[in-house]
Amino acid sequence: MNLKYDYSKSGDFEIKVTTFFGLEEVLEKELHQLGGKDIVPFKRGVSVVGDLGFLYKINLCLHTALKVIIPIVKFEANNEQELYDNIKLIEWERFISNTDTIMIEGVTNSEIFTHSLFVSQKVKDGIVDRFREKTGSRPDVDLIHPAFKVYVHIFKNEVSLHLDSSGDPLYKRGYRSDINEAPMKEVLAAGLVKLSGWEKHLQLIDGMCGAGTIAIEAALWANNIPPGYYRNEFGFMKWQNFDETLYETIYESSINKIKNEPVEIIANDIDNPTLKKAITNTKNAKVDDVVSCINQSFFDITPTRKGGVIILNPPYGERMPVTEIEKLYKEIGDKLKKDFKGFSAWIISSSPEAIKSIGLRPSRRIHLFNGSLECRFLKFDLYDGSKKASKNPDTMTKY
Ligand SMILES: C[S@@+](CC[C@H](N)C(=O)[O-])C[C@H]1O[C@@H](n2cnc3c(N)ncnc32)[C@H](O)[C@@H]1O
Repeated sequence: MNLKYDYSKSGDFEIKVTTFFGLEEVLEKELHQLGGKDIVPFKRGVSVVGDLGFLYKINLCLHTALKVIIPIVKFEANNEQELYDNIKLIEWERFISNTDTIMIEGVTNSEIFTHSLFVSQKVKDGIVDRFREKTGSRPDVDLIHPAFKVYVHIFKNEVSLHLDSSGDPLYKRGYRSDINEAPMKEVLAAGLVKLSGWEKHLQLIDGMCGAGTIAIEAALWANNIPPGYYRNEFGFMKWQNFDETLYETIYESSINKIKNEPVEIIANDIDNPTLKKAITNTKNAKVDDVVSCINQSFFDITPTRKGGVIILNPPYGERMPVTEIEKLYKEIGDKLKKDFKGFSAWIISSSPEAIKSIGLRPSRRIHLFNGSLECRFLKFDLYDGSKKASKNPDTMTKY
């Protein structure tokens, strides 16, 4: 069986980087900036070509990536025996040794293979049986921290296998020791900051910051801090071909690009225990010098600048009566119009009713998911002067 990726050879190979729906373009730009070749976006990801050093660099430096995976092989299987036989034909010993640990994760969209757990089991059997027959022993399964995580994807009768180089998903930055009730994944927060068009010479206010994720991710962008800076481990470090000297060189050169520029980021929350979590997290992330954490209601904020960017991730109303959530969003709209002239305001929410209550017409509407919740990320231009934000019901927010 022809392997797409040969572990033992140096040079370029295909890499796939996954992300959240709606962040593909941001990820594509990041990959360009890091020197990726043959970049092609797909739904929830981007495919790119690079070498081993590039693989290390993107795991360390990408802000909007969830996982970095390597396509290893693709074949057809029309029944479970064919799946097992083909898996056994793969020269797994090129990647894995019988003393390594493995984990298989299956996803299937097929009338032939209907159970993903069963598929994972069959693939595992094929791998371990090959090792047992060739060497007399087999790799063990480790469902928590395996050295090799293999993804099996079956569409109809097409089986594709990928090797995970990241280990823990890349949103697990490692700076967030304290979380609140509805924390946002770091990768989504990083994506929101980029999508908002915020640039570091502008003030950024997260008026309802929770654990501080959006503000911290903005500080990482602004100061060139690689998001992997706080992690001790990536999946590829457990591989036999791990080139520690190469990784150290890449790590050092990324760390040397960290800047310490004055940036004005405000993380504000009404709830004192929640804000304390944001304070702890900004300290963990070593950005407490650029993020100011303030404990007050969003409605009491008086901007100190004439313009800037506000990002709000208000409650979506899952635990609130509809009338209350609509009232909250109406007040947000009124506050933005009254006190934030000259700012661009962005609001992410899953509640169409609440969004309509803002009473402002969005100039951009981006479709995203926050976990399983389908959301809109809306931009409101709060003009200072003649081109005023409208409260005319005909032009109000359409979801
Ligand atoms: C959905 S959570 C934000 C989650 C945050 N993005 C994170 O990653 O942790 C909403 C936050 O809004 C805060 N909040 C609700 N009403 C507020 C108000 N009037 N002023 C400021 N914060 C408020 C809540 O305390 C809560 O922390």
